[in-house]
Amino acid sequence: MRKVLVTGGLGYIGSHTAVELQEAGFEVLIIDDLSNAELNVLDGIVAITGTRPHFEKIDLRVKNDVEDFFRRNKVDGIIHFAASKAVGESVENPLLYYENNLHTLNYLLQQCVKHNIDNFIFSSSCTVYGQPDELPITEDAPVQPAMSPYGNTKQISEEILVDVCHASNLQAISLRYFNPIGAHDSTEIGELPKGTPQNLVPFITQTAVGLRDELSVFGDDYPTPDGSCIRDYIHVVDLAEAHVIALQRLFDKKNEQDYEVFNLGTGRGSSVLEVVNAFEKVNSVKLNYKIVDRRPGDVISVYADTSKAAEVLGWKTKKTMEEALESAWRWEKKVRNKQ
Ligand code: WQD
Repeated sequence: MRKVLVTGGLGYIGSHTAVELQEAGFEVLIIDDLSNAELNVLDGIVAITGTRPHFEKIDLRVKNDVEDFFRRNKVDGIIHFAASKAVGESVENPLLYYENNLHTLNYLLQQCVKHNIDNFIFSSSCTVYGQPDELPITEDAPVQPAMSPYGNTKQISEEILVDVCHASNLQAISLRYFNPIGAHDSTEIGELPKGTPQNLVPFITQTAVGLRDELSVFGDDYPTPDGSCIRDYIHVVDLAEAHVIALQRLFDKKNEQDYEVFNLGTGRGSSVLEVVNAFEKVNSVKLNYKIVDRRPGDVISVYADTSKAAEVLGWKTKKTMEEALESAWRWEKKVRNKQ
C-alpha cells in the first residue's frame, strides 16, 4: 500500500483529500500544526473511512522536526496543503506568510531530494492569475504581479518547484484552486474557519445559523451583470478527488513534464448575489445581508477554463454549486448542534 503524506491534513481541503486518498487505497500520514485546524477532525475522517491516519503535530517551520519525521517515516508521495491562506492577514503580516509558506516548502523539498520522494502535489491557487485579461482562465494565462503576500507565496512556491524539478528527480504538479466550498456529504468533516470567516460561504452559513448578524456583500457596483464579483465555486469533494487523480498520474509516471499545472474549477462563474440567492433557495432560508463598499484587493471576475484537467487528467467536477451550498448548510447546522 503506497504511503502518502498530507501536510495540513486536518484542514478543510486536506481532510477531504485524506478521506479520498484512504478510499482510493492509500495509507495516509498527516502532519498538521493545529494552528488552523482541530485535532477532532481526525475523528471525522475515521467516522467516514474507518481508518485512522497516522498523525503527528509538527510545525513545518522547525527544520529539525521535519528532518526527524522523515527519518522515522518512509513515504511514496506528498500532498502539501500546510500554509497560511488569509489574503487580508497576509497584507498585515507578510513575514508570517513568507516564513510559514516558503520555509516549510523548502524544508519539505529538501527531504524529498534526500529521501528520493519524487511525487509531490502542491496546493496552489487561482490567485496567481490576479485579474486576468481573458476569461475563462487557462493555465497559460500570464501569472500577474501578486495582489497580496499570500498570492506571492503561491507564485514563489511554484517557481521553487520548477527549479527543484529541474535540478532533481522530483516530479510535481501544482493544482490551482478556484473557490472551494461545501462539505463531505456525511457532514463528518467540513469547513471550520477559526475566528471571523474571511471567505464568502462560511460567512453565509454562520449568518444563516445566527452566529453572525448579517452578511456584508463587498460591493455591487462592479462591471458584472448584477454588480457583484464573480468567482468559480467548486465543491471541496470534487477538488479532493482531483488530488488523488493527480498523485496517481505521478505514481504511474504519466506526467509529460517534470512539473505540471492544472486549474481546478467548475468552469462556471457565479456572482456573490447569485450565491446568496442560490443558498436561500436550495436551503429554504432567508439570509440577512447588506451591500457595503468594495473589499480592497478583490478581482472583478475569475473562473476556470477546465479543458486541460478534463483532457489530460480525465477529471471534471461532478457536483453543482447548489449541492455544495446545501452540504455547507447541513454541516454548519451540525457543528452548531442545530439539526
Ligand atoms: C469571494 C467573493 C468577496 C466574504 C480567496 C483567495 C483564494 C482562496 C479563497 C485560499 C469576493 C465576496 C466575501 C464576505 C463578500 N484562498 N465576499 N462578503 O477572495 O475569491 O479568494 O479565498 O485558498 O486564494 O484569494 O474568496 O470567499 O473571500 O470571496 O461579499 O463576507 O465573495 O468580495 O467577491 P476570494 P472569498
